[in-house]
Amino acid sequence: MTSLSVVAVCGSLRDESYTRTALAYALDAAERAGAATTLLDVGREDVPMYDPDVDDQGVSELLATIEAADAVLLGSPVYHGTFTGALKNFHDHCGWDEYEDTVVGLVATAGGGSYASTLEHMRSTVRGVHGHVVPEQVGIRSASSKFDPDPEAIDDRAISDPDIEERLRDLGDAVVRDARRFATEPCEGTAAADD
Ligand SMILES: Cc1cc2nc3c(=O)[nH]c(=O)nc-3n(C[C@H](O)[C@H](O)[C@H](O)COP(=O)(O)O)c2cc1C
Repeated sequence: MTSLSVVAVCGSLRDESYTRTALAYALDAAERAGAATTLLDVGREDVPMYDPDVDDQGVSELLATIEAADAVLLGSPVYHGTFTGALKNFHDHCGWDEYEDTVVGLVATAGGGSYASTLEHMRSTVRGVHGHVVPEQVGIRSASSKFDPDPEAIDDRAISDPDIEERLRDLGDAVVRDARRFATEPCEGTAAADD
């Protein structure tokens, strides 16, 4: 059986991003479930501001990575109650070609206590490109208190709350589970062109 591919996209540009670490945990679970995994850092990839007037903005390789993925994990910090401009800009480069028949999992990290609107905004923007978001999702509140330096841990950081680690691992498992279903039985697109 060919290996499924799971790509995580981190919407934080911060060097010590908690979101990136959270995604690395979910990817670890996906890998253990049999997937080939990749972490894409939108900051390090230097994605240009999306411009509809420019035909080739030099991101075709990145988009091909998303298009080839069976599942995508999108992670973002909460910025002013929504996901980051960096992730939105990356997402603006994407469309149906990249996401049709793609399973999507969502992660949001908040400095404070509220991440629900961020996850909802990510869910609806993925619907716009016909991605299939799994019901499992992970929101991490007070993120700075949830990650401890640990050279033995994934991304050199242990997660202090075992429930959060479990949810991240469940998310990694869930996208592989649903991507397997899609791989066996891809759905026919039925939505109208303007949907
Ligand atoms: C511009 C900006 C806006 C933010 N807005 C919020 C917010 O509305 N609610 C919140 O809980 N935290 C907010 N935060 C805090 C971040 O969500 C928090 O630090 C997050 O864990 C950072 O994730 P990262 O380490 O992956 O970059 C904001 C941070 C920045 C820089």
